[in-house]
Amino acid sequence: ETGYITFDEGYGNTGSCKSEITFIDGEKGILRHRGYRIEDLAEKARFLETAYLIIYGELPSGDDYEAFRGRVHRNTAIHVGMESHFDGFPLDAHPMAILSSLLNSLGCYYPNLASNDREQDLEHFDEAAPLAISKVRTLAAMAYRMKVGKPFVYPDHKLLYSQNLLHMMFSEPYEQYVASETVAHALDLFLLLHADHEQNCSTSTVRMVASGGANLFASVSAGVSALWGPLHGGANMAVIRMLEAIHKDGDDGSRFIEAAKRKEARLMGFGHRVYRNFDPRAKILGKACTRVLDEMGKSDPLLDIARRLEQAALEDSYFIDRKLYPNVDFYSGILLKAIGIPVEMFTVLFAIGRLPGWLANWREIASEKDGRIHRPRQIYTGPAERDYIPLRTR
Ligand code: SDX
Repeated sequence: ETGYITFDEGYGNTGSCKSEITFIDGEKGILRHRGYRIEDLAEKARFLETAYLIIYGELPSGDDYEAFRGRVHRNTAIHVGMESHFDGFPLDAHPMAILSSLLNSLGCYYPNLASNDREQDLEHFDEAAPLAISKVRTLAAMAYRMKVGKPFVYPDHKLLYSQNLLHMMFSEPYEQYVASETVAHALDLFLLLHADHEQNCSTSTVRMVASGGANLFASVSAGVSALWGPLHGGANMAVIRMLEAIHKDGDDGSRFIEAAKRKEARLMGFGHRVYRNFDPRAKILGKACTRVLDEMGKSDPLLDIARRLEQAALEDSYFIDRKLYPNVDFYSGILLKAIGIPVEMFTVLFAIGRLPGWLANWREIASEKDGRIHRPRQIYTGPAERDYIPLRTR
């Protein structure tokens, strides 16, 4: 009656709702990647180390980690032929549209990694995955530079993963931008916390596309498109715009809360289809906002408003009854803003962080023994059988 397809009906015959990658307990607010708690990874690991864990299932040894980082490092530059793609976009093209297009196009420059022959693509996965993780960063930075009308900045191979992204976004011909340890670590933490999240909208999209045998570039490109939606990855931009509007209205958040309860507004960054408790990533990001702003000697009135919204919502029966808590997007925008990332790039950075999870899920589907195409069934709610009416009588 609801028109919703339950996962069993939709995928039952393919068993695709089974995965070994990420575990979430929404009632208890638990998130684990391959058995490791997100709190431990956030405190002790780095983004690329967590990416390796999510993709391969184990924390890397020192040698494996260095080999993986080396492959990422060596693949930062893109084929010069891809630069001309940017000439075809209008200057105000959204970076998510550019990223989705160019990630798919990567497969054209590396056809041996994107053959759509499952065996061959799996065989080349160890080369393709770090290449994608590296080049997504370069393509994102180029999309930003095009948007602000500045020349592309080539990667600096002396820099670490997050620092190189910021260098390619913000360096000028007369001055290289080298992010401080605080800023680089904050970005690395942001990416780590977004690395995978079970069967969310974009990851399920990647699995759907992968189940048809499509290569990993085409599959993650579809993931970018799914992530762009304001109810999914686009929420981090919507949170900042919501907080700015509240701030501009001189509201301390209480008027906005009442509007949300009247369903005249949505508290962006709140609620989750699975978490009926705090999203553990929101807790970590909330603390990181305070730490980073303190270390940078900055303050942000939007953080004060966010804190008040969180407090008010956690005491208000409307939100308590609906089990609405802050999710990953509630504080992530404030953190990105504090380290100088422009709002239009927020969802792009979410995509960079989520790429390892998409790659791991592509690999899991591609590796399925009797890998079958996903073919959800439906509850038909259209008209019953009826006869054709000739045009002249209509
Ligand atoms: C991400 O799946 C993932 O894991 C996603 C993600 C990931 O890492 O991949 O975690 C990332 O997408 C996080 C979510 C980001 N989106 C937002 O913050 C947008 C704001 N949130 C909502 O739109 C909403 O909470 C969803 C989309 C996240 C979840 O929607 P549901 O579970 O379908 O909830 P619902 O729409 O059925 O709402 C249930 C009730 C309704 O009220 P009633 O009709 O019962 O009276 O809760 C209300 C809704 O009106 N409600 C909200 C609300 N979210 C739900 N009311 C005010 N503000 C909100 N944010």
